[in-house]
Amino acid sequence: MSTPVVEFDVITLFPGMLTGFFSESMIGRARTAGLIRAEAHNLRDFTTDRWHITDDRPFGGGAGMVMKPEPLARAIDSLRRPGTTVIYLTPDGEPFSTPLAREFAQIPHLLMVSGHYEGIDERIRETRIDREVSIGDYVLTNGTLAAAVLIDAISRQVPGVLGEEKSLTQDSFHHSLLGFPQYTRPVEFEGRAVPEVLLSGNHGEIERWRHSRQLEKTRQRRPDILSKTIQPS
Ligand code: ADE
Repeated sequence: MSTPVVEFDVITLFPGMLTGFFSESMIGRARTAGLIRAEAHNLRDFTTDRWHITDDRPFGGGAGMVMKPEPLARAIDSLRRPGTTVIYLTPDGEPFSTPLAREFAQIPHLLMVSGHYEGIDERIRETRIDREVSIGDYVLTNGTLAAAVLIDAISRQVPGVLGEEKSLTQDSFHHSLLGFPQYTRPVEFEGRAVPEVLLSGNHGEIERWRHSRQLEKTRQRRPDILSKTIQPS
């Protein structure tokens, strides 16, 4: 099998959270096809003490626990290689977005570090983390689902992962616009008909209608992104 386009490794205390995600749907198929590689690694396997301890109390006091530096350093050092980008998932990070997913899809090896408790020892952030990424302004119980969100969105940017390459250009946020409404059969459902234009077979008209719906929806829901809008060619 040829080398995968992007390889993902996730360091987490909860590898089981990724089992279904890695094997189902598009990600499962992309892995089977060899387009991507994705593996979870249990941080406890990188401890050396008898109790497999990964956290400790914070210096200076305060609530919660902090993830100890030694197991994280061992895990990162054993999994990274030249060219790896190490990403720490944290609510303090750079906001995740389609441009970031496209950028990360160009990197052959992404090593993701999922935090837990009050976060990881600052010295790991200083010495081993290349990028810090947040998936939104809310706090998750740990970063594993955030790592899954990144892997999903990045994998969609890898050629061949989506059945039809065209689907990417129809995405919400492509050209900084939200998506257009979609319909399938039946033509009438509970008294509501599919817009006539979609049945017309006139591709120019259909494209114009879709674009106007996208503009309208974006104006209503996300006026903040409209300024970045590119008109279709
Ligand atoms: N870990 C906890 N909350 C998170 C968030 N919003 N994004 C990324 N990682 C997180």
